This record gives sequence, C-alpha cells and structure tokens, in this order.
Amino acid sequence: MKVIHANRREFIKFFGRSGIAIAGLSVLPGCVPESKEGESASSSFPLTPIQPTKSDDLVLAEGFNYHVITKLGDKINDSETYGDNNDYTAFLPLNDKSTDGLLWVNHENINPWLISGYTGGEKTKEQVDIEMQHVGGSIIRIKKTDTGKWEMVENDPYNRRLTANTKIPFEWDQPIAGSAEAIGTLANCAGGLTPWGTILTCEENYHNFFGLRDLQEGPRTRQSVHGWEKYYDHPPEHYGWVVEVDLKTGDAKKLVGLGRCEHEAAAVHQEDDGICVVYTGDDKEGEHLYKFIGAEANSLTRGTLYVADTENGKWLSLDINEQPILQQNFKDQTDVLVRVRDAAKLVGATPLDRPEDVEIDPISGNTFVTLTNNVAEGNFHGSILKIVEKNGDKRSLEFAAEVFAVGGEEIGFSCPDNLAFDKNGNIWLACDISGSKMNKGEYAPFKNNGLYFIPTAGENAGKAFQIASGPHDCEITGPTFSPDYKTLFVCVQHPGSESEGMNSFTSHWPEGGDTLPRSAVVAIQGEMLDRLIG
Ligand code: FEO
Ligand code: CA
Ligand code: CA
Repeated sequence: MKVIHANRREFIKFFGRSGIAIAGLSVLPGCVPESKEGESASSSFPLTPIQPTKSDDLVLAEGFNYHVITKLGDKINDSETYGDNNDYTAFLPLNDKSTDGLLWVNHENINPWLISGYTGGEKTKEQVDIEMQHVGGSIIRIKKTDTGKWEMVENDPYNRRLTANTKIPFEWDQPIAGSAEAIGTLANCAGGLTPWGTILTCEENYHNFFGLRDLQEGPRTRQSVHGWEKYYDHPPEHYGWVVEVDLKTGDAKKLVGLGRCEHEAAAVHQEDDGICVVYTGDDKEGEHLYKFIGAEANSLTRGTLYVADTENGKWLSLDINEQPILQQNFKDQTDVLVRVRDAAKLVGATPLDRPEDVEIDPISGNTFVTLTNNVAEGNFHGSILKIVEKNGDKRSLEFAAEVFAVGGEEIGFSCPDNLAFDKNGNIWLACDISGSKMNKGEYAPFKNNGLYFIPTAGENAGKAFQIASGPHDCEITGPTFSPDYKTLFVCVQHPGSESEGMNSFTSHWPEGGDTLPRSAVVAIQGEMLDRLIG
C-alpha cells in the first residue's frame, strides 16, 4: 500500500491554525516524511508545470492542448440547449475504440444575469422558467473525428436534458414530503459511476433554489437565493439526494437510502458478491462523510447508512432500529434519511472541513476525500484525507483516517475539490478557490484556479504539479478520462462569474473578443497524457 503524507512543514502549519477536522485523525507527526526545501521533480520526470497565472484562458502545460466540445446555450437538439455551470462529467463508451460515447455533464448552478437577464429586484416567472431549464444535466453523444477532436453529435437521439422540470421518482417505499416523485433535479455538483453503467449525480446546494425548512412541516426556515419558490412551491425535501441516471434512456431515480444532505459526490465500490458500498460527502463546513452498505446485490435501494467518526475510526450506524437516540428524535427511518445531518450529529459524527469529492484509489483500494477548507476555523487551503478500511474491507465498520496532503503555498494548491485517479493510481486534482476570493488575500499566490497532477508513487510522490489554469473567476471541474486515457474531459465552470452584469464582463472565455463568458466542457489531449499515464 502506498502511504503518502503531507510534508512536515505544511502539516505543522496546518495543525497550528486549525483544529476541528483533523485534530482527532489517526495521524502522528512521526508518520510524516521529511521533505527537502526547494526539492524539484527528478530529471526524468517529463512534465514542466505551469506557474500560477491570472490569464483569462485555459492555460495548459507544454504537451497538452484542448478544444471545446460544447458550451452554455449550444443546441443539443431541436428543443433543448446545453445548461449553465457544468461540473461533473462521465463517459459511457458506445464502442471499444474510445471514439464514440455518451457524455453526461452536471449543471450545478446558474448565472442569472447571463441566462435570464435577471440583475436584481423582482424576478419574473418567465425568468424563473428560463433558469429552470439551465440546471440538472446534459446527455450528449460525442464522437472523435478524423482530426482527433471530439464533437457533439447535434440532434443525436440520445441527446437529452434533465432539468428542474423533469419528474423523477424516489427509490423508496414511503413518500417524501407527501409525494412519490420529485419535480426536477438541481444543484448537481459532482457524482460517480455504478458498476452497471449508470451514473450518480449529486444534488448539493439545493437550498439555493427552493430554500430550506428544518422539519418536514411548516414554512421555510430559509428562503432560496434564486427565488424559485415564489412561483413553484416545491418541497425542499425533494432535493439534496443522490440521483441515479441511465444515460441511454434518461430514466432517473432519487436514491433515498443514501440520505439527504448537500451531497458533493458518490464513489461506488462493488464486492464480489455484488453488494455495493458507496462513500459520499456533505459539502459544508462542519458536516460529515457517509458510507452506505447495500443490502442486495447490484442495487443501491436498500442498505444501511453510516457516518464517519474519524476521531475513533468508526462508522456509526444511522439505522433507527440500532440507535435509541434516533428513535427519540425521528418519526421513522425515512425521517432520519430526510434529515440525515441532524441524525449524524446525534450519533456522534465528526465534523469535517467541507468534504467534497470522494474517489477510490484503483491501486490501493483506499478512499480519498477532499476537504476543501474551513475558513471560519482558520483552515484556508484544505487537505486531502485518506480512509484506510480495516483489513482493506469496505464493509468494515472500523478504519484509519490519515492526512494525505495539505493545501497551501508549499505544495502549491489551495481548496482541493474534484479528484480523478488515472489507471496508475496517480491523482488529478481540480481546485476551487471561490470566485469572490480568488487572487485576494490568502489566496493571491495561487492566482486562478488550477488542475494538478499528483504522483502517488516514486520519487515525486505527494508533490503537486500544475498542469492547467482556468480563465477568470472559474473553477475547473469534473475530470474524467476516456477509456484509452488519450483524452481528459474537464469542465470550465462559471468563467466571469464576478461580472457586474451584461455590460461588464470579467471574462470572455471561451470565444474571446467581446463575447459573453460561457461555461463549457472541453477535451484535454496531447502527448503529455501518454507520457504521464502510459
Ligand atoms: Fe459544488 Fe462543493 O462544489
Ligand atoms: Ca465541487
Ligand atoms: Ca466546488
């Protein structure tokens, strides 16, 4: 098993100013290897990393190139367009040559000024209706042409949108807030893949669209940012789920068994007997990491949900039949799952620093979790956590939690968000310094958000090499490799999001000149992919 830790200086710096997330982890300073100041990559290492930059472009290290596949507003068929704020991607091959497939893309959020023209004051129903078409996800057929570039097949029969108007049933035998189905999926941030070829898309900041309420009765305790509830009084409890989508049919279902929170991502492991284990994080300061262990083979419907106590290395059951404190505070298991954050706190879950993406290392089998930051607790730059299950058994209820890497100036990245492993178990990391904080204060040295290559073995293990920098205000999201590893699909999300309106753009990516900024999904290619992955 490869064991890589944060270097000592950053480790100590981090511990010195942040406590809650890491104080209880089973990491001892003695485990942390010394690093040499000024250490650089070996002479045989092929990649020359880029330096942080404020350029309004997708800047790539030498040996890489990119092209846009599609962008906000592009027609995917006669009646639907590609949505806003693209995030997670997944590729379902339709041949064995990595030249034809279905690309799923999440649409996490909206820039109202850009899509509905809303810039303040009373929002109209017409504006809300436009905005509701720009969230959810896109399924598009893409093909690699003779030029080696990927193109969307416009009007392909597979092309379709899931939006805030798509009816999606709950995969559960009890109604959720009085209904067997939800209207729409939204706030789709990151996701995951199932062993049977469907994708999981995670509803994260759902409160931005229909607000929040503390209990399943009564009025909202918090109004939404986008104000959709004024015209569509959908229950907030219908959002915040992990949603499974069949890319070939567009059929979707909300997986109630995985609980309801601000799910960032979901990583699925399947055991030899067909039982699945799913890890999923709740992206908010002080929230938690969850693990679902299925009850039936090839299904994510029934099972037991656990939450991590990283201080003691225990997965704590959220089954109401096993926890008297849950029996005292919840009506039934459905109520536990709808308000899973409250349940997690009652059983003693450890608060974490914004658990975002979760991925399983294909080589070691360990689970990696990005903890983006927790500014209120003095943790500006975040870290990457490694979960080592006891005896390597994903169904174990005991584990060790270790710090794999700590963000900061020395390692070169800040605010880790999306992770992808290549086939060698090396990490490709996308970071998310928020647009409003980028290039300011603590975050100034990192400049625009970047994408990093982190070897996990060999003499460069644990170092971060920047391979890309995004245009102004954006985050780079959703890294996914094509099956042949010749293409890395990523999204550029919310370039120009700090613009003051239609007359003052902070970005003109991707088309340059005086054009509007638009989120887009791109294909990164080049000989450096071969050299780094082989
Ligand atoms: Fe949508 Fe947690 O990033
Ligand atoms: Ca994210
Ligand atoms: Ca993010």
